[in-house]
Amino acid sequence: MAVDLSLSIGSAGKQELTLRNPVMVASGTFSNGIEFAKRFDVDALGAICSKGTTLRPRRGNAQPRTVETANGMINSIGFQNIGVGGLIAEIAPIWERWHVPVLVNIMGETIAEYGQLAERLDGVPGVAGLEVNISCPNVEAGGLEFGQDPAQAAAVVAEVRRKTGLPFAVKITPAVSDIRPIARAIEDAGGDAITVMNTIPAMAIDIKRRRPVLATRFGGLSGPAIKPVALRLVYLTASVTKLPILAAGGVSSGTDAIEFFMAGASAVQVGTATFRDPETPWRVIREITDWCEEEGVKRLSDIIGAARPND
Ligand SMILES: Cc1cc2nc3c(=O)[nH]c(=O)nc-3n(C[C@H](O)[C@H](O)[C@H](O)COP(=O)(O)O)c2cc1C
Repeated sequence: MAVDLSLSIGSAGKQELTLRNPVMVASGTFSNGIEFAKRFDVDALGAICSKGTTLRPRRGNAQPRTVETANGMINSIGFQNIGVGGLIAEIAPIWERWHVPVLVNIMGETIAEYGQLAERLDGVPGVAGLEVNISCPNVEAGGLEFGQDPAQAAAVVAEVRRKTGLPFAVKITPAVSDIRPIARAIEDAGGDAITVMNTIPAMAIDIKRRRPVLATRFGGLSGPAIKPVALRLVYLTASVTKLPILAAGGVSSGTDAIEFFMAGASAVQVGTATFRDPETPWRVIREITDWCEEEGVKRLSDIIGAARPND
């Protein structure tokens, strides 16, 4: 039995993004895919989310900036990247030769910067869409993250919408007391999809040095440890929006992915699991396909939201 795993993101009539399957790789855990493409069949993936990209190149935070924790890791990479100009000149031409859609993950420090990033990437061959990371301190608003305030989130989304015809997902932070107003604001302001979720603020202490392990003290927790948190947030997000939800948070198996689909996600992103085994995203695709065949599920859409009562 052939299982139809395809899905599309974006509204009909506008530019649409078609994914052959619902398994993406999460931003910052696959770099820009160039190294992976030398060893793996990147075209078999549903989509690639690029490294977080800023207007100007960034060197990132001081070391140490990663630490392993129970069933996860904390990172504070600090958006080390070559900047949008370098990405357009050096990386996008390589993506253009691939069949897999690439979403450029963008991050600005002001609303205007998000607009400039969206404008520069609009129409660039090799760029299929954007993923707008709003888990970033708003320097104009005293450091509160854009994604922690529905009005600020809406302002970013409206600005990106104004500056690009590309389909785009908006990636939200779990560091809020209620995710639902943020999700509604993103839908109302014109986002095409919502990525749930970014890492969870966290820290580790080195008892020998009597200091925080990370040079920046705090970082973001990811990996299997955060999956139950992400599942709940996907479930809550699905209760308030019709937008496709891209679930990220501890996905390392087909079973994990199916849990997210049943909670209401249309696709999953594999992140930290790729550090342990770089083949994870391809294995997840196989495991989803096998499960669907065993269960007689012909289309993925048949199980999206299956674990939700009629809410
Ligand atoms: C080392 C590392 C770097 C990351 N960089 C980014 C980034 O640049 N932009 C972004 O939106 N998310 C970034 N993330 C968050 C992941 O894309 C993902 O949302 C999160 O790690 C949860 O998924 P996981 O548990 O499967 O890793 C990063 C995560 C890790 C571990």
